[in-house]
Amino acid sequence: MQNDLRLNISAMDTLHDEFLDTLSKMKSCQESAFMPLFEELIEHTKKHFAFEENIMEEHHFYDKKEHFDEHKNLLGEMEYFYEKAKKFPQFGKSYIHDYAYEKFKRHVINIDSQLAMFIKENNISL
Ligand SMILES: [Fe+2]
Ligand SMILES: [Fe+2]
Repeated sequence: MQNDLRLNISAMDTLHDEFLDTLSKMKSCQESAFMPLFEELIEHTKKHFAFEENIMEEHHFYDKKEHFDEHKNLLGEMEYFYEKAKKFPQFGKSYIHDYAYEKFKRHVINIDSQLAMFIKENNISL
């Protein structure tokens, strides 16, 4: 993971690393592995988002509405491209190659970083 994406909350960094691993596999995998990996990416993202959302619920994070909305948008978009890719593989490919990383990066830097700060300031142990 690039340093600017590291939040120094190990449970979050691990989930983010796993996402990036799957994403990079998808960029160089064989045709037949692409859709199964896409499914894996979606399932992992559900787990990743649920993990963060549980922390926000449990500790009454001040900005959870914005963070939850962002998760919903990101996941919705991923699922949209997955469905499209069943008929038109090129849609899925261009999403994975040209958009997914930037979207993820923006979320980590702008949104997850606030949650990470909150976790540190409140000494929340995960
Ligand atoms: Fe995250
Ligand atoms: Fe998040």
